Amino acid sequence: MSNDGNIIKVKDLRKTYAGGTEAVRGVTFDVKEGEFFGFLGPNGAGKTTTMNMLVNLVKRTSGTITIDGFDLDRQANEIYARIGFAMQEIGLDETATAREMLELHGHLYHLPKARVKEQIAKLLKLVELEKVADNYASTYSGGMRRRLDLALSLIHEPRVLFLDEPTQGLDPHARQLIWNHLRDLNKKGMTVFLTTHFMDEAEALCDRIAIMDKGQIVTEGTVPQLLAKHEAKTLEEVFLKTTGSSLADEEVNLKASDPYVRGRR
Ligand SMILES: Nc1ncnc2c1ncn2[C@@H]1O[C@H](COP(=O)(O)OP(=O)(O)O)[C@@H](O)[C@H]1O
Ligand SMILES: [Mg+2]
Repeated sequence: MSNDGNIIKVKDLRKTYAGGTEAVRGVTFDVKEGEFFGFLGPNGAGKTTTMNMLVNLVKRTSGTITIDGFDLDRQANEIYARIGFAMQEIGLDETATAREMLELHGHLYHLPKARVKEQIAKLLKLVELEKVADNYASTYSGGMRRRLDLALSLIHEPRVLFLDEPTQGLDPHARQLIWNHLRDLNKKGMTVFLTTHFMDEAEALCDRIAIMDKGQIVTEGTVPQLLAKHEAKTLEEVFLKTTGSSLADEEVNLKASDPYVRGRR
Protein backbone atom coordinates (compact mmCIF):
# COMPACT_ATOMS: atom_id res chain seq x y z
CA MET A 1 0.00 0.00 0.00
CA SER A 2 1.45 3.36 -0.92
CA ASN A 3 1.74 6.00 1.72
CA ASP A 4 3.49 8.79 -0.26
CA GLY A 5 6.37 8.71 2.25
CA ASN A 6 4.15 9.79 5.14
CA ILE A 7 3.22 6.74 7.15
CA ILE A 8 1.01 8.70 9.58
CA LYS A 9 -1.29 11.46 8.35
CA VAL A 10 -3.49 13.34 10.77
CA LYS A 11 -5.84 16.14 9.78
CA ASP A 12 -7.70 18.52 12.07
CA LEU A 13 -8.03 16.00 14.88
CA ARG A 14 -10.32 17.00 17.74
CA LYS A 15 -11.52 15.46 20.97
CA THR A 16 -14.08 16.85 23.35
CA TYR A 17 -14.69 14.49 26.26
CA ALA A 18 -18.15 13.96 27.68
CA GLY A 19 -18.31 16.73 30.27
CA GLY A 20 -16.91 19.27 27.83
CA THR A 21 -13.11 19.18 28.18
CA GLU A 22 -11.61 20.08 24.80
CA ALA A 23 -8.53 17.89 25.15
CA VAL A 24 -7.45 18.11 21.49
CA ARG A 25 -8.36 21.20 19.49
CA GLY A 26 -7.49 20.78 15.82
CA VAL A 27 -4.20 18.94 15.44
CA THR A 28 -2.66 18.34 11.99
CA PHE A 29 0.66 16.60 11.34
CA ASP A 30 2.43 13.95 9.24
CA VAL A 31 5.09 11.44 10.23
CA LYS A 32 7.49 10.20 7.56
CA GLU A 33 8.22 6.53 7.11
CA GLY A 34 11.25 5.59 9.24
CA GLU A 35 11.10 8.79 11.25
CA PHE A 36 11.44 9.04 15.04
CA PHE A 37 8.76 11.59 15.85
CA GLY A 38 7.93 13.01 19.26
CA PHE A 39 5.09 14.89 20.91
CA LEU A 40 6.54 16.97 23.73
CA GLY A 41 4.30 18.88 26.09
CA PRO A 42 3.34 19.62 29.68
CA ASN A 43 0.90 17.51 31.62
CA GLY A 44 -2.64 17.88 30.35
CA ALA A 45 -1.52 19.11 26.91
CA GLY A 46 -3.51 16.39 25.15
CA LYS A 47 -0.66 14.04 24.19
CA THR A 48 -2.24 10.84 25.52
CA THR A 49 -5.63 11.72 24.06
CA THR A 50 -4.04 12.28 20.64
CA MET A 51 -2.11 9.01 20.78
CA ASN A 52 -5.14 7.06 21.99
CA MET A 53 -7.14 8.38 19.06
CA LEU A 54 -4.39 7.30 16.64
CA VAL A 55 -4.58 3.70 17.87
CA ASN A 56 -8.40 3.81 18.18
CA LEU A 57 -8.52 3.45 21.98
CA VAL A 58 -10.36 6.77 22.21
CA LYS A 59 -13.04 7.73 19.70
CA ARG A 60 -12.29 11.06 18.08
CA THR A 61 -14.82 13.87 17.88
CA SER A 62 -13.67 14.83 14.36
CA GLY A 63 -10.73 14.75 11.98
CA THR A 64 -9.11 12.11 9.79
CA ILE A 65 -6.36 9.60 10.51
CA THR A 66 -4.49 7.61 7.86
CA ILE A 67 -1.80 5.06 8.69
CA ASP A 68 0.28 3.49 5.93
CA GLY A 69 -2.33 4.63 3.43
CA PHE A 70 -5.26 3.07 5.31
CA ASP A 71 -8.15 5.05 6.72
CA LEU A 72 -8.79 4.40 10.41
CA ASP A 73 -12.57 4.56 9.96
CA ARG A 74 -12.84 2.10 7.11
CA GLN A 75 -9.71 -0.05 7.34
CA ALA A 76 -8.93 -0.36 11.03
CA ASN A 77 -7.93 -4.03 10.80
CA GLU A 78 -5.30 -3.25 8.15
CA ILE A 79 -3.94 -0.64 10.54
CA TYR A 80 -3.96 -2.92 13.61
CA ALA A 81 -1.81 -5.42 11.72
CA ARG A 82 0.82 -2.73 11.12
CA ILE A 83 1.04 -0.97 14.48
CA GLY A 84 2.19 -1.77 17.98
CA PHE A 85 1.62 0.31 21.07
CA ALA A 86 2.68 0.61 24.68
CA MET A 87 0.48 3.03 26.56
CA GLN A 88 0.88 5.20 29.65
CA GLU A 89 -1.24 3.00 31.89
CA ILE A 90 0.21 -0.49 31.77
CA GLY A 91 -2.35 -3.23 32.23
CA LEU A 92 -0.32 -6.40 32.76
CA ASP A 93 -1.88 -9.59 34.00
CA GLU A 94 -0.22 -9.97 37.39
CA THR A 95 -0.89 -13.71 37.50
CA ALA A 96 0.90 -14.48 34.24
CA THR A 97 4.59 -14.61 33.40
CA ALA A 98 6.35 -12.56 30.72
CA ARG A 99 6.66 -15.66 28.54
CA GLU A 100 2.95 -16.49 28.89
CA MET A 101 1.91 -12.95 27.98
CA LEU A 102 4.19 -12.91 24.95
CA GLU A 103 2.76 -16.27 23.83
CA LEU A 104 -0.77 -14.99 24.18
CA HIS A 105 0.00 -11.84 22.17
CA GLY A 106 1.68 -13.91 19.45
CA HIS A 107 -1.43 -16.06 19.14
CA LEU A 108 -3.71 -13.03 19.12
CA TYR A 109 -1.82 -11.86 16.03
CA HIS A 110 -2.17 -15.35 14.50
CA LEU A 111 1.57 -15.90 14.25
CA PRO A 112 2.59 -19.52 13.62
CA LYS A 113 3.77 -21.37 16.76
CA ALA A 114 7.38 -21.63 15.66
CA ARG A 115 7.43 -17.93 14.81
CA VAL A 116 6.04 -17.05 18.26
CA LYS A 117 8.78 -19.05 19.92
CA GLU A 118 11.43 -17.36 17.82
CA GLN A 119 10.04 -13.89 18.51
CA ILE A 120 9.81 -14.55 22.25
CA ALA A 121 13.44 -15.60 22.45
CA LYS A 122 14.50 -12.54 20.48
CA LEU A 123 12.36 -10.06 22.44
CA LEU A 124 13.23 -11.39 25.89
CA LYS A 125 16.86 -10.89 24.97
CA LEU A 126 16.20 -7.43 23.55
CA VAL A 127 14.49 -6.14 26.70
CA GLU A 128 16.77 -8.14 29.01
CA LEU A 129 14.05 -10.15 30.72
CA GLU A 130 15.37 -13.63 29.91
CA LYS A 131 16.21 -14.47 33.51
CA VAL A 132 12.78 -13.54 34.88
CA ALA A 133 10.71 -14.72 31.90
CA ASP A 134 9.04 -17.44 33.94
CA ASN A 135 8.31 -15.35 37.03
CA TYR A 136 4.93 -13.73 37.63
CA ALA A 137 4.57 -10.14 36.45
CA SER A 138 3.45 -9.23 39.99
CA THR A 139 7.11 -9.59 41.04
CA TYR A 140 8.44 -7.17 38.38
CA SER A 141 9.77 -3.68 39.10
CA GLY A 142 8.42 -0.63 37.24
CA GLY A 143 11.29 -0.80 34.77
CA MET A 144 10.73 -4.49 34.08
CA ARG A 145 7.02 -3.87 33.49
CA ARG A 146 7.73 -1.14 30.97
CA ARG A 147 10.23 -3.35 29.19
CA LEU A 148 7.74 -6.23 29.08
CA ASP A 149 5.09 -3.87 27.74
CA LEU A 150 7.53 -2.80 25.03
CA ALA A 151 8.26 -6.45 24.14
CA LEU A 152 4.50 -7.15 23.91
CA SER A 153 4.04 -4.27 21.50
CA LEU A 154 6.76 -5.69 19.24
CA ILE A 155 5.67 -9.33 18.95
CA HIS A 156 4.23 -8.96 15.42
CA GLU A 157 7.08 -6.70 14.20
CA PRO A 158 4.93 -3.61 13.61
CA ARG A 159 5.87 -1.02 11.00
CA VAL A 160 4.86 1.78 13.36
CA LEU A 161 5.36 1.82 17.11
CA PHE A 162 3.37 4.14 19.38
CA LEU A 163 4.74 4.82 22.86
CA ASP A 164 3.14 7.01 25.49
CA GLU A 165 5.72 8.29 27.98
CA PRO A 166 7.85 5.13 27.68
CA THR A 167 10.32 6.00 30.44
CA GLN A 168 8.02 7.64 32.97
CA GLY A 169 8.90 6.51 36.48
CA LEU A 170 12.09 4.71 35.44
CA ASP A 171 15.53 5.02 36.99
CA PRO A 172 18.37 6.33 34.78
CA HIS A 173 19.72 2.87 33.98
CA ALA A 174 16.36 1.44 32.88
CA ARG A 175 15.71 4.61 30.92
CA GLN A 176 18.99 4.28 29.04
CA LEU A 177 18.19 0.66 28.20
CA ILE A 178 14.85 1.61 26.68
CA TRP A 179 16.40 4.49 24.74
CA ASN A 180 18.98 2.14 23.25
CA HIS A 181 16.34 -0.41 22.21
CA LEU A 182 14.22 2.27 20.61
CA ARG A 183 17.17 3.68 18.68
CA ASP A 184 18.04 0.20 17.39
CA LEU A 185 14.47 -0.54 16.30
CA ASN A 186 14.26 2.80 14.54
CA LYS A 187 17.59 2.20 12.78
CA LYS A 188 16.19 -1.07 11.46
CA GLY A 189 13.37 0.89 9.81
CA MET A 190 10.58 1.03 12.36
CA THR A 191 8.74 4.34 12.52
CA VAL A 192 8.41 5.46 16.14
CA PHE A 193 5.93 7.98 17.51
CA LEU A 194 6.36 8.79 21.18
CA THR A 195 5.05 11.27 23.68
CA THR A 196 7.14 12.64 26.49
CA HIS A 197 7.35 15.54 28.85
CA PHE A 198 11.12 15.11 29.18
CA MET A 199 13.14 17.57 27.07
CA ASP A 200 16.23 15.35 27.17
CA GLU A 201 14.25 12.35 25.94
CA ALA A 202 12.83 14.28 23.00
CA GLU A 203 16.26 15.67 22.20
CA ALA A 204 18.07 12.32 22.52
CA LEU A 205 15.66 10.30 20.39
CA CYS A 206 13.53 12.34 18.03
CA ASP A 207 14.32 13.37 14.47
CA ARG A 208 11.44 15.81 14.67
CA ILE A 209 9.42 17.20 17.57
CA ALA A 210 5.96 18.75 17.82
CA ILE A 211 5.41 20.71 21.01
CA MET A 212 1.84 20.44 22.23
CA ASP A 213 0.07 22.70 24.70
CA LYS A 214 -3.59 23.08 25.62
CA GLY A 215 -4.79 20.75 22.89
CA GLN A 216 -2.83 22.26 20.03
CA ILE A 217 0.56 21.95 18.34
CA VAL A 218 2.31 25.21 19.14
CA THR A 219 5.48 24.56 17.14
CA GLU A 220 7.12 21.76 15.20
CA GLY A 221 10.52 20.93 13.66
CA THR A 222 13.93 19.36 14.19
CA VAL A 223 15.81 20.60 17.25
CA PRO A 224 18.04 22.94 15.19
CA GLN A 225 14.96 24.28 13.38
CA LEU A 226 13.17 24.91 16.68
CA LEU A 227 16.18 26.69 18.18
CA ALA A 228 16.47 28.94 15.12
CA LYS A 229 12.74 29.62 14.84
CA HIS A 230 12.39 30.64 18.49
CA GLU A 231 15.81 32.26 18.87
CA ALA A 232 16.62 29.91 21.70
CA LYS A 233 19.78 28.20 22.91
CA THR A 234 18.13 25.10 24.36
CA LEU A 235 15.02 23.04 23.77
CA GLU A 236 13.97 23.96 27.30
CA GLU A 237 13.96 27.60 26.29
CA VAL A 238 11.80 26.77 23.26
CA PHE A 239 9.44 24.87 25.54
CA LEU A 240 9.24 27.77 27.95
CA LYS A 241 8.61 30.30 25.18
CA THR A 242 5.95 28.25 23.44
CA THR A 243 4.04 26.75 26.36
CA GLY A 244 4.62 29.14 29.21
CA SER A 245 5.26 26.08 31.34
CA SER A 246 8.62 25.67 33.05
CA LEU A 247 10.63 22.59 33.84
CA ALA A 248 10.12 23.24 37.54
CA ASP A 249 6.34 23.14 37.03
CA GLU A 250 6.79 19.88 35.21
CA GLU A 251 8.71 18.34 38.05
CA VAL A 252 5.91 19.13 40.47
CA ASN A 253 3.37 17.72 37.99
CA LEU A 254 5.51 14.69 37.42
CA LYS A 255 5.54 13.73 41.06
CA ALA A 256 1.78 14.03 41.27
CA SER A 257 1.10 12.15 38.05
CA ASP A 258 3.69 9.40 38.15
CA PRO A 259 1.78 6.12 38.36
CA TYR A 260 4.57 4.56 40.41
CA VAL A 261 4.41 7.37 42.93
CA ARG A 262 0.67 7.70 42.84
CA GLY A 263 -0.20 4.02 42.80
CA ARG A 264 -1.92 2.52 39.79
CA ARG A 265 -5.24 4.03 38.82
N1 LIG B 1 -11.15 10.14 29.98
C1 LIG B 1 -11.16 11.46 30.14
N2 LIG B 1 -12.31 12.13 30.42
C2 LIG B 1 -12.35 13.46 30.57
N3 LIG B 1 -11.26 14.26 30.46
C3 LIG B 1 -10.09 13.67 30.18
C4 LIG B 1 -9.98 12.25 30.01
N4 LIG B 1 -8.67 11.95 29.73
C5 LIG B 1 -8.02 13.13 29.75
N5 LIG B 1 -8.85 14.17 30.01
C6 LIG B 1 -8.50 15.59 30.05
O1 LIG B 1 -8.03 15.96 28.77
C7 LIG B 1 -6.92 16.85 28.86
C8 LIG B 1 -5.72 16.24 28.15
O2 LIG B 1 -5.28 15.10 28.85
P1 LIG B 1 -4.19 14.09 28.30
O3 LIG B 1 -4.52 13.77 26.88
O4 LIG B 1 -4.07 12.98 29.25
O5 LIG B 1 -2.89 15.01 28.31
P2 LIG B 1 -1.34 14.63 28.45
O6 LIG B 1 -1.17 13.21 28.02
O7 LIG B 1 -0.63 15.59 27.55
O8 LIG B 1 -0.96 14.83 29.88
C9 LIG B 1 -6.70 17.08 30.35
O9 LIG B 1 -7.39 18.25 30.70
C10 LIG B 1 -7.34 15.87 31.00
O10 LIG B 1 -7.78 16.15 32.29
MG1 LIG C 1 -0.28 11.59 28.97
